[in-house]
Parts: sequence; structure tokens; C-alpha cells
Amino acid sequence: MDINISNETADRINTGLLVAGMFEKDMNEAIKGLDRHLKGAISSMISEGRFRGEWGETETIDTLGCMGAGRILLVGLGKKEEFTLEKLRKAAGISAKAARDSGIKKYATSLQNVLTKESVQDRCQAVAEATLMALYAFDKYKTDRSKIKTADSLSLVIEEGRDEARKGLERGIVYAEAANLARDVVNTPANIMTPQAFADEARKTSKECGLRITVMGKKELEKAGMNAIVAVSEGSDKEPQLAIMEYFPEAEEKVALVGKGITFDTGGVDLKPWDSMESMKSDKAGAAAVLGALKACAQLKPGTGVIGVMVLAENMVGEKAMKPGDIIKAYNGKTVEIMNTDAEGRLVLADAISYVEKNYKPSAIIDIGTLTGSCIIALGYHASGLISTDDKLAKRLAEAGEKSHERVWQLPFWEEYQEVYKSDNADVRNVAKEKYGPGAISGAVFIKQFVEKTPWAHLDIAGPAWLSSGRDYIPAGGTGWGVRLMAQLIEDWQAPDNGPRATSNP
Ligand code: BES
Ligand code: MN
Ligand code: ZN
Repeated sequence: MDINISNETADRINTGLLVAGMFEKDMNEAIKGLDRHLKGAISSMISEGRFRGEWGETETIDTLGCMGAGRILLVGLGKKEEFTLEKLRKAAGISAKAARDSGIKKYATSLQNVLTKESVQDRCQAVAEATLMALYAFDKYKTDRSKIKTADSLSLVIEEGRDEARKGLERGIVYAEAANLARDVVNTPANIMTPQAFADEARKTSKECGLRITVMGKKELEKAGMNAIVAVSEGSDKEPQLAIMEYFPEAEEKVALVGKGITFDTGGVDLKPWDSMESMKSDKAGAAAVLGALKACAQLKPGTGVIGVMVLAENMVGEKAMKPGDIIKAYNGKTVEIMNTDAEGRLVLADAISYVEKNYKPSAIIDIGTLTGSCIIALGYHASGLISTDDKLAKRLAEAGEKSHERVWQLPFWEEYQEVYKSDNADVRNVAKEKYGPGAISGAVFIKQFVEKTPWAHLDIAGPAWLSSGRDYIPAGGTGWGVRLMAQLIEDWQAPDNGPRATSNP
């Protein structure tokens, strides 16, 4: 889809449909202008109570040749004092879908003009970003192409600050395309998106963006001693892979992002019931988010370096599969007693984290993945669980979460929680002994044992990574959650109040 800045005014623009936003019972100047062209059609709709401007309300008006636009789509924005950048994203998503579903190919919007307290750049970014995210569809495998509806072009009607608007629009496109790449990877099923296919996807993205990439296969993982990753993949005929993408690795500060990429999670020998398994192609969402974040960083060129680690394996049942009670030696030398083969995410992350810490010496490590059902019970689908050993890192993530609206919610990580992992037969076990416990926290307690000294944060995205029904600008399926959060975090890493700015960037 093409998104551009129009040179025309709202009443002159030649388009199939023009989107205009209205706050509750508040005819703004722009709406009044349209109303005059439409000989009072909007004001009579309002006086008859057919449109109030309540949040999410939509109404289409045919302009019958009175204006350049064929139709007006009025979108209710709710109470003015409750309006935010995120509501602007949602409104852009709602209108994009309405335009697409009405069969319109080319439409225009003035939505970004309603929110005056944010900058033109941020508003245009929000509209572009949410539009492309809302119109995303995973329809590659539908053979009847005639039923697929798309909108091809959107023009933003802007009266002032056009350069700023263009900057925002470009950033919005980068963010949305990176999130949509992650969605594609998550939505592609396990028979196609195998660990090797995922690594190939990472190679392709690296090549397009000019990033360095290293991929280790099973033999190299074995040789390096990453036996936890190997153990998880043993039940599968597909080899595990560890893909590492680097953005600006010579930067003074670099952040390691480590994503869980289980291309399918059957649970292993501790097999999941069918209703827990049906969406488990989404268990690679953490690694997909890392891939998307690296793509965005390569395009936005922040002054902070990023090491993007994707740990890729399939958790299957097979004659070689790991079994409860098996003991393996992880990369950092600790022995692990595998007491539950379904707690595989923490195993692969353990090796990947200690590997990146030792070999890349990052300034911070953030791991991200669909780790526990328990986190969904705690927080639902609107936030990822955050656990961190570093308050500054947690604060940075919270701020990036607010900005991108991929919010995080910090869980306690007190000393009292740290004891649950003693094993009778090895150094540690991969699940707590108690049947009922704080599952999301326990997962992080396990992982923490594989971080030596680097500031570390853990993001459990089991809830928001996958939606069984869509909302506003997030269609059902893989959501790409975490891409915008991490890209925002890296972009703001060296903001003036966070330390000195790097002098060079690639
Ligand atoms: N991939 C699952 C977590 C998950 C559950 C993600 C639901 C998305 C939706 C993970 O590997 C898992 O199975 N976790 C177990 C951990 C338990 C065995 C300690 C869980 O949450 O039950
Ligand atoms: Mn599992
Ligand atoms: Zn899993």
C-alpha cells in the first residue's frame, strides 16, 4: 500500500473516501467545513442523533458530487480529554478496515489533524503505522484471490508541518513493516517455517538491510556445548539453529535481544492437550519480534548497537526426544535436570543468553518469548510480563512500552522467589517442585541462573503475541508484539537523559 502526503485540502481532494474524525458532540472546524459543502447533511445527522461522535462509531455519507471526495467516513473519537496517540492508532485502524471492506482502493484521511497536543510527526507516524498494521492479512495461502479485498493508497491531508509529517509517515512505515514481517513469520505454519527456514528468512532480511549474520547449526551448537538447545530439538527431525544478527556492533553500547523461536511446541513427551497445542506455531513469536526489531533498527539507524539472537528449534515427540529426568550440561557448565519437557523455552534461552553474554559482552540483555500460560492468567492479552534485575532497564522498557503501546507490567522478583529450582540430582531443574506457583516468575528465576553479571530483563509475551480474535489495528493471529517496543527502546537508548550520544553510526 502506498501512503503519501497530499497537497490538497480536505474539501478539494479527489478521492473515493475521506475519513474525518469527530469528538463527542463537538463539531470541529474541519467538520463544519465539510458540513457546509454537504449542505448541512452532517449537522442534521447529529441533530437526529444518528451520529454522536462516540468512540468507535462510524457513519458514511455520500457527497453526491458536492466535493472532491466521493464519500465521507465519519469516525467517532469519543471524549476529547480521553483522546491519546493510541486512540488515534485505533481510529486509523478502524477507518482503514472500513475503507477496505467497502471496496475503496484509494482513500484519504484527516484523522491526524484532531490531536493537537502531540507533534505532527508522532501523529502521522501513528496513522501510517496503524493503517498498515490494520490492513495486514495472512492470505498468502488462499488460492481464490478474487475474494481478497485491499486498499491501495492512502493520502494524509495535512495543512502545516509537511516535512515533519513526512518524517512521521516514514517512521510509521518502518515500524509497521517490521511488525508485519514478524507476523508473517509467526503465522507461517511449522511445516513451512522450520528452524532452517526461519534462519533463511533472517539471512534474507540481513542481506536486504545490510546487517551481518551468523547461523550455527546442530553440529556447531553441539561443539560449542549448547546442549540445552540441542536437547530440546532432539525429538524433531529438524535441526536447531542459532541465528545472530548484528546492527552497529562496534557501538560503545550494544543491547542483546534474545528471542525464543520454538517453531512448534507440542510439549514434547509431556505432551500438550489438543486445545493448548493448536496455536503453538506461535511459539516462535519472541524470535520473530527480534527479527522485526533488527529490521527496523537497520532502517532507523539509532546510535546504539543491537545483537539480535534467534534461538530456533522444534519441540516434538520422537524416539530421541528428551525425557523427564534427563540431565544435560548447559553452555555455562551448569547441569540441568529436565523435569518437564514442556518448559523448553527457558532451556533454549538459557544457552542463548549465556552464549551471547560471553561472546559479545553486551551492555544489557533482554530476552523475549512466549514462555508461560501462567503469564496469560496474570496479565491477559494487553501486556507482557516484565522481570528485571536492573531498575534502569525496567524503566526504559516501561517507557518504550507506553510510547509504542506494547506495554509491559513488572512482576516481583524478590529474594523469596529465588529458591524454587534446587534439583536432587543436578545443579538445577527446569520447573519448580510445587504444582501451583507463580509460573511466569519461576520461568524467569530459571533463566536468571544463566546470566552472569549483565543487566537483564525478561519479557514474557505468551498473552499478546497471539490473538484468537483481532482488535482495532491488530488482526487475529500473530501480532508482531514486541517489535515496536524493542525498536523504540533502542531508538531512545541514548536519549539525552539516558547518557551520552554516540558520535558515529553506520
Ligand atoms: N509455549 C508455552 C507457553 C504458552 C502457553 C505460550 C500458552 C502461549 C500460550 C511454554 O513452552 C510452556 O509450555 N510453558 C509451560 C511451562 C510449565 C511446564 C512450567 C506452561 O505454561 O504450562
Ligand atoms: Mn512448552
Ligand atoms: Zn513453548
